[in-house]
Amino acid sequence: MSKILITGGAGYIGSMLCTKLLEKGHVVTTVDLLKYNKGSLNHLYFYKNFKLICDDIRKVSLMKKLVRQHEFIIPLAALVGAPLCEKYKKEAISTNLKSIKDLCNLVTKKNKVIYLTTNSGYGIGEKDKYCDENSPLKPISLYGKTKCDGEDLVRKYIRNHVCFRLATVFGHSYRMRSDLLVNNFVSTAIKKKKLTLFEPHFRRNFIHVRDVVNAVIFTMKNFNRLKKNVYNLGLSSANISKIMLARKIQKQYKRLKIKIVTNRKDPDKRDYFVSNKKIEKKGFKAQISLDEGISELIQVFLNDKEKIINNY
Ligand SMILES: NC(=O)c1ccc[n+]([C@@H]2O[C@H](COP(=O)([O-])OP(=O)(O)OC[C@H]3O[C@@H](n4cnc5c(N)ncnc54)[C@H](O)[C@@H]3O)[C@@H](O)[C@H]2O)c1
Repeated sequence: MSKILITGGAGYIGSMLCTKLLEKGHVVTTVDLLKYNKGSLNHLYFYKNFKLICDDIRKVSLMKKLVRQHEFIIPLAALVGAPLCEKYKKEAISTNLKSIKDLCNLVTKKNKVIYLTTNSGYGIGEKDKYCDENSPLKPISLYGKTKCDGEDLVRKYIRNHVCFRLATVFGHSYRMRSDLLVNNFVSTAIKKKKLTLFEPHFRRNFIHVRDVVNAVIFTMKNFNRLKKNVYNLGLSSANISKIMLARKIQKQYKRLKIKIVTNRKDPDKRDYFVSNKKIEKKGFKAQISLDEGISELIQVFLNDKEKIINNY
């Protein structure tokens, strides 16, 4: 049993992670402002070893006390996604970057930090680029930049760290996000029965949110073997193009019409294959297929229309 501090535990990844860790008997504390979904942790108050502190991670005195009391630190709280960070620039920098700078000063050699960032800075504008952990990260959005700089700080100043560069996450969570590409395509398919694609051959890599949780649990168990390193984290069979993804959805949701538009550009310039070999060689392989995730999401969006709109 470990003592784990998760910031942003009420979020898309955090609410699934807190749930699994508590089921496994760990002691979990989370700090979250409950910005989006006030109920995503309701099912966890039953556990005696769960504590939610509804507060701001930017309060250094609060974080100092909590970091001392916990072995594992998983800092998830952030303003997530390019549009949100563009809208609230100052808050994005203080939440995504300044808080990580502060964390670097607070952790000791007793702490173990697992940091999640995005792989979205790979392969910008480079068609069919094949990326591993040595490929340069060149994020273009403020979101990408804050996360990339956060990773640099963690790797430089935190002795016991493991960093993951995540593929685009999909699947259902207690705090749902329908802005993520697979979730968005399925929710649009259900709502409009039509998907309009531009630059349909751009490739991406994907991973189910439960596989992200499983990777964190694997990391906790194998920390010493994995530490002081950065790993790509994605489903290796899911390096696929937008059109392939749309067809997979159409296979399960026959009413869907796919329209290709040739005169528009995708502002997101990612077009890449991502290698997940480094983490796979250490013994972790993402397992949940896109087809399983699509099937789950179709049920979610068909039966609960509110899930489609509750992002930010
Ligand atoms: N979901 C993805 O596809 C993905 C991919 C790569 C990396 N990540 C990283 O994983 C982490 C979690 O992402 P997510 O998708 O769960 O996002 P999310 O928006 O669902 O969750 C973020 C949580 O942080 C909380 N929060 C924000 N500012 C706070 C503050 N100042 N104090 C306390 N709480 C605050 C919010 O209330 C929210 O519950 C982020 O660091 C993100 O960069 C996510």
